[in-house]
Amino acid sequence: MSEAARELAELAVTASTCTNCSLAETRTQVVFGDGSPTASIMFVGEAPGFHEDQQGIPFVGAAGQLLDRLLAEIGVARRDVYIANVLKCRPPGNRDPRPEEIEACKGYLADQLRLIDPPVVITLGNFATKLLLKREVGITKTRGQVYPWWNRHLIPTFHPAAALRGGDRILEQMRRDFALARAVLDDAVHEEADPVVEQLGLF
Ligand code: URA
Repeated sequence: MSEAARELAELAVTASTCTNCSLAETRTQVVFGDGSPTASIMFVGEAPGFHEDQQGIPFVGAAGQLLDRLLAEIGVARRDVYIANVLKCRPPGNRDPRPEEIEACKGYLADQLRLIDPPVVITLGNFATKLLLKREVGITKTRGQVYPWWNRHLIPTFHPAAALRGGDRILEQMRRDFALARAVLDDAVHEEADPVVEQLGLF
């Protein structure tokens, strides 16, 4: 196991008893993250839902099944990516994350990004995109492009739950964003990327 993978595993243990915010009182368990510690693509979603809270694994419900399908369409297996959320604990009733919860939790995400160090980061929906890009612009306007991000590539797309609600138009745009990620990845693996040096400045 590499040093980064070991640190990631230790961080998951630390997070499992986290009481940084009041979601600790209502969660079943912490949903830290899932996947390969050497992933080339890292997804950042919003927060665990009912099924994730029960199972302790991100994106295992209907949105997760769609995510798996979109990945398969670009020839990527779920076990080869890493999936995390902005919040590691389920907000009651699946309400939106609150600013103080994001603030309390974002250090875990910064550490995950630093340790996994993926060339391509795909943000799913508004919360992840606004946090990482530090911009208050909605996903409809930001998606469809590649953003340079700490010498990496950030590709915002809709949250899969939006495609489940919103139908084929959103799904088609997600397909295009995933194809873009595939193309960027194929180029990015040939580049020598600089390490993310300033962990605390990520967002
Ligand atoms: N939605 C998310 O944003 N994350 C999950 O893990 C599940 C659903």
